[in-house]
Amino acid sequence: MIYEQVMEATEAIQARAPQKPLVGLILGSGLGDLATEIENAVALPYEEIPHFARSTVAGHAGQLLIGTLAGVPVVIMQGRFHLYEGYNATQITLPVRVMHQLGAQTLIVTNAAGGVNPEYKPGDVMLMSDHIFLPGMVGMSPLVGPNDERFGVRFPAVANAYNAELRALAREAAQDVPGLCLHEGVYTMVVGPQFESKAELRFLRLIGSDAVGMSTVPEAVIARHMEMRVLGMSLITNTATGAEQEEVDHVSVLEVANAARPKFATLARGILRRLALL
Ligand code: 6GU
Repeated sequence: MIYEQVMEATEAIQARAPQKPLVGLILGSGLGDLATEIENAVALPYEEIPHFARSTVAGHAGQLLIGTLAGVPVVIMQGRFHLYEGYNATQITLPVRVMHQLGAQTLIVTNAAGGVNPEYKPGDVMLMSDHIFLPGMVGMSPLVGPNDERFGVRFPAVANAYNAELRALAREAAQDVPGLCLHEGVYTMVVGPQFESKAELRFLRLIGSDAVGMSTVPEAVIARHMEMRVLGMSLITNTATGAEQEEVDHVSVLEVANAARPKFATLARGILRRLALL
């Protein structure tokens, strides 16, 4: 059962990294660099943690880091799991359950995303105000299956999944990041791994998406199931408006993520520093 797996993973981690994290961070495509700044870090490769999956994607490292960042005790996933890798929704969200069990009450979850909103430019950052969980709406929610009341309720609400206070704090932190263009909008999750067709992008825009990506929402839903506070941030790596000339590829997504990394890292540090003062 999941509960036992979470406990085993948690105990294995605590045996090697006794410090209690207060904030969990999931670093998406090309954003893993922030992890190099973590102090007194213990690094645990996923293959050394019981029941963790393995990262199979270029641009995604595969380790858990426990230490201090900007004065906050953190647990960081450097590299995440995706449905398109063939893992199920339960497997990809197990680390969030473990983060919570380790002590994290807050989850900051990041991703690289395509900008569906025509105003969004590569390098911009979007705070997630809401999501459209396309896989979750058709049976791929990580909450499908028997509910374990030790984690949360059978029918959790996600209408206000993305914490308004944390978003306000992020907006404040963004003011100290020169040249950063910050938006707030709706992230739509698709399974991938293929990028969207033009018709699919028109559909995504029509249903109210501002950005599209292949991650994040399962983790956010599981965090909310356990009543963690969630902040979601998307780095816009390309425009995905369905216009004729546009083609996206993984290499260009990683290039933009790399270029924007310092700004994104500064923003994340600013958010953590403000969290430390709360
Ligand atoms: Cl355009 N689509 C999806 N599904 N994921 C992305 C993306 C686009 N750009 C970055 N990640």
